[in-house]
Amino acid sequence: MNETRPKISIYIATSIDGYIARKDGNLDWLQYGHTGNEDYGFKNFINSIDALILGRNTYEVVSDFDEWPYKGKRVIVLSNTLNDARKEAELFRGQLADLTSMLHSEGIKRVWVDGGITVSKFLEAGLVDDITISVIAMVLGSGIPLFSTMNREHKCRLISTQSYPSGLVQLKYEVAHDG
Ligand SMILES: NC(=O)c1ccc[n+]([C@@H]2O[C@H](COP(=O)([O-])OP(=O)(O)OC[C@H]3O[C@@H](n4cnc5c(N)ncnc54)[C@H](OP(=O)(O)O)[C@@H]3O)[C@@H](O)[C@H]2O)c1
Repeated sequence: MNETRPKISIYIATSIDGYIARKDGNLDWLQYGHTGNEDYGFKNFINSIDALILGRNTYEVVSDFDEWPYKGKRVIVLSNTLNDARKEAELFRGQLADLTSMLHSEGIKRVWVDGGITVSKFLEAGLVDDITISVIAMVLGSGIPLFSTMNREHKCRLISTQSYPSGLVQLKYEVAHDG
């Protein structure tokens, strides 16, 4: 565990063909096959984090939800273009390592980073500790990709796999920082 920054986690759902949203940002397909109260471990996960870092595109999508989904959590939005954010969020632009050291100095222990472009930037910066990917049993054909091209590779260790009656398969990995 890194002692100069919080633990940083990716927790994201993707189609079989690697998309996190339809081209227009629509997320209706995330519910495909879902029945009952199964939350795929989401409540446990959100209870384990102190803060979220969202890319601006994800922030704009969730801001249109009927209800702000991250009540009680600190939310930081990355953007070079926005000048202000809703009261529940704060804006950041700058080096990701500076942001994570600032959060560490403020006592934040675990962070969820979200948004396709954003998770790739954190991975590229070597700042991700674990990745949970929920694969929805759906091929979308097109959409917003989970990962962008990165200029480095990361070995990962598989921690667990779990499948659900909906067809969703959840993969948990730890990112190996030892090469
Ligand atoms: N399936 C899922 O679980 C899931 C999860 C999250 C999101 N989504 C969906 O994915 C879509 C959004 O993902 P996305 O890949 O398009 O974008 P994103 O990662 O949400 O946002 C990208 C934007 O974040 C800002 N940004 C990222 N890194 C930055 C940095 N280091 N410094 C400053 N700004 C930075 C930039 O905003 P500026 O252009 O303002 O500079 C960039 O254009 C939405 O449709 C959302 O609903 C799906």
